[in-house]
Amino acid sequence: MIRTALVLVAGLILAACGPAPMPAPTPEQAALFKPADARLAGLYETSCKACHAIPESGAPMVHDAAAWAPRWKQGLPVLVDHTIQGFNAMPAGGQCATCTPGDFEGLIRFVAGHEDPAT
Ligand code: HEC
Repeated sequence: MIRTALVLVAGLILAACGPAPMPAPTPEQAALFKPADARLAGLYETSCKACHAIPESGAPMVHDAAAWAPRWKQGLPVLVDHTIQGFNAMPAGGQCATCTPGDFEGLIRFVAGHEDPAT
């Protein structure tokens, strides 16, 4: 109940600031997102998804534009570095032992909603 109210208030605040950003995905929506590339999708399903599609994990939710905007500003190389080295509660390597730096780049682009290399 309180949570719903907070979400509504947050929505109103966001709506007041210019063009409406995409709303955060619901947990049900987040559970359905997966990378278009089949191999990345397989890696995502067995690693990143365990946290980045579960709000209680504290991880920025997959395709949550507002949660990712300030992180994306750091630049992709920093995000790749934080993923490989770990970052606070984010475990080093994101629980993907077989991911290459290129895989991490693709997975980060996916979770952050920047799959298009032009963005
Ligand atoms: C065990 C849970 C868990 C898993 C698995 C996980 N993450 Fe995270 N991730 C987190 C949490 C929690 C944060 C937020 C850390 C913070 O900002 O304090 C985070 C943050 C991030 C960030 C933002 C770092 C920054 O500098 O702001 C990136 C990028 C990221 N994760 C990518 C990934 C990728 C890619 C995978 C899969 C290969 C993955 N994560 C798997 C929990 C996880």
